[in-house]
Amino acid sequence: MDFEIPLFDLNFGEAEEKAVLDTLRTRWISMGPKVHRLEQRFADHLGVEHTLGLTNCTAALHLALKALGVGPGDEVIVPSLTFVATTNAVRYVGADPVFADIRSLEDLSMDPDDFAAKITDRTKAVIPMHYGGFAAQMDSILSTARSHGIAVVEDAAHSPLADWQGKPLGSLGDFGCFSFFSNKNITCAEGGLLATNNAELAAKAKLMRAHGMTSLSFERASGHATRYDVVELGYNYRLDDIRGSLILAQMDRLAEDVRRRAELRAAYESGLEGLTDVILPYRGRIEGSSHYILPVVLAGGGAERRDAVRQRMAERGIQTSVHYPAVHRFSIYEEFRCDLPKTDHATDHEITLPMFPRLTEAQVETVCRILKESL
Ligand SMILES: Cc1ncc(COP(=O)(O)O)c(C=O)c1O
Repeated sequence: MDFEIPLFDLNFGEAEEKAVLDTLRTRWISMGPKVHRLEQRFADHLGVEHTLGLTNCTAALHLALKALGVGPGDEVIVPSLTFVATTNAVRYVGADPVFADIRSLEDLSMDPDDFAAKITDRTKAVIPMHYGGFAAQMDSILSTARSHGIAVVEDAAHSPLADWQGKPLGSLGDFGCFSFFSNKNITCAEGGLLATNNAELAAKAKLMRAHGMTSLSFERASGHATRYDVVELGYNYRLDDIRGSLILAQMDRLAEDVRRRAELRAAYESGLEGLTDVILPYRGRIEGSSHYILPVVLAGGGAERRDAVRQRMAERGIQTSVHYPAVHRFSIYEEFRCDLPKTDHATDHEITLPMFPRLTEAQVETVCRILKESL
């Protein structure tokens, strides 16, 4: 279906085409100097010591938990209002996910009190997810985690260039995990990145990124290494230089992308003013967010009404989405289900409205008008 106003549109131009062409012409397309440059840029941008370019954010979450030594018998506290990858990574290492509720319908990230209440002797890690690019309550999550010896893995898939009290998201916990999937603020179709300040954990993750091998093909090809050993059961989670160069080009746009999204966010805030039936989460939090998505939550009526509103909007050319179908309701997570009343409301009533830098203020007005009429 073609939408007059899509949910998202790529922010690609000549710079991206040139970046890819340049890489193709170097005749080195797998992981090499471009990924290395990207890692350095991201490290500078986050102010962290170590970054690893990866195939995707799911791999970053997996490697983070693996490097931390999380495994069978351990518990990891996760939000349920997230993409399923956050929780799947916990299962990949054989640990059990424990779901924490969201704070409120105004702040859809993990409730620090529910996190604290769910800690047991088996809790090894917590994965706060910065929903929509808005920081989770990192001061309380970090202090509770630290006082219990629990590792913090930030799911920063939504939040490049966003911060918590001036500190970049993805740099606050033991690990930060980023996604470059096609609908993200910056993208190379599929890609991800892991960030940490811990040299030992970074070395473990780096080894596991490439089969547990002690040297990489680029080092061997460039004469820096001739032999390798395999010392761990690793994976092939390497990012390649074609995608690396695309992300480098996208990083040049990131500040402008976030600035433009903030303007659009402000336009939505005024466009939705006075709508008593609709909650606008994070109202007023323009600063410090990457504004990845624009979520609204209907006050009531259930999932059927929400779906009907989305259907009416679609018929009038407006594409919307739902972030997210709650993970604790998926069949595969049945055995880990628990009561999450605020997550249940959010997952049944949330509608994600269009948000991307080329959207215009006039289109935002149209979306707001059609939302009101569709209610
Ligand atoms: C919150 C969150 N976590 C993790 C992921 C997984 O990212 P990737 O697709 O790069 O593996 C996504 C991707 O959509 C996401 O939105």
